[in-house]
Amino acid sequence: MQVNSVENAHILCYNVDMPQLTPPKIRDYKNQGRKIVALTVYDYPSAKILDSAGVDILLVGDSLGNVVQGKPTTLSVTLEQIIYHTGMVASAPQHALVVADLPFPYCQLGAKEAVRAGVRILQETLAGAVKFEGGKSRAPTIAALVDAGIPVMAHCGLRPQEIRQTGGYFVQRQKEQLLEDIQAVEQAGAFAVVLECVEAELAKEATRAVSIPAIGIGSGPHCDGQVLVFHDILGYTPERSPALKHVKRYADLHTIISEAVQQYAAEVQSGQFPAEEQSFGSVSK
Ligand code: KIV
Repeated sequence: MQVNSVENAHILCYNVDMPQLTPPKIRDYKNQGRKIVALTVYDYPSAKILDSAGVDILLVGDSLGNVVQGKPTTLSVTLEQIIYHTGMVASAPQHALVVADLPFPYCQLGAKEAVRAGVRILQETLAGAVKFEGGKSRAPTIAALVDAGIPVMAHCGLRPQEIRQTGGYFVQRQKEQLLEDIQAVEQAGAFAVVLECVEAELAKEATRAVSIPAIGIGSGPHCDGQVLVFHDILGYTPERSPALKHVKRYADLHTIISEAVQQYAAEVQSGQFPAEEQSFGSVSK
């Protein structure tokens, strides 16, 4: 490749040093035996940290409803909100692939609505793909998205957008259904699939049944990668509910933030903050 301008030289170096991940590259991780590291994220500064820490996929999930908006389910998250948050996240990465959730009810309304929503996400943000909840029965919609040039990461197993129908967040154990779903989404052209809350041995079998990467959440160690919710792994919230059995906390941000804010409050109240070094000009006694 000939480098014929300063601008091209920059692009060449950038690509060599820090290759931007794409759906085909993520798909290829499975052949290479490389585990995929994914995390949800909803804002620019957090996305910057995750990208430089080596996370492969930044997922702007509709878990936004639970962890940022404080809602009991993901159902209230709108397409506008996903686009707003994806816009922030997708400005951050140099390396990671940004995937945005297709929120309720865009996975449920058929191909036309799903493609319309997917087009908006790709046109209005720098996202590289969408995530789509659904298996065999919605495979035609996945095929329509892919046909429209919208890369799809499918989401099988537990599907939180169907909570009203299923009545709860249950561990998935139905082998035939899962295998049919995961094979159908692969056939429809998904480049990867999230497997949520699937019993570990079944997840292992499902992972081996497809050539696209299966990225687990609460689905044991045999998947091709793992995805978790940002706030959960960092201990942002104080709760340690049994529903979060699949989460490992790598930090206790709740305590760190709480202690820092208490100290700030105490220093404001005592007059210790702001001191001379945080003031402009000299401060009289
Ligand atoms: O909405 C979300 O964040 C998700 C992940 C937890 C997989 O679906």
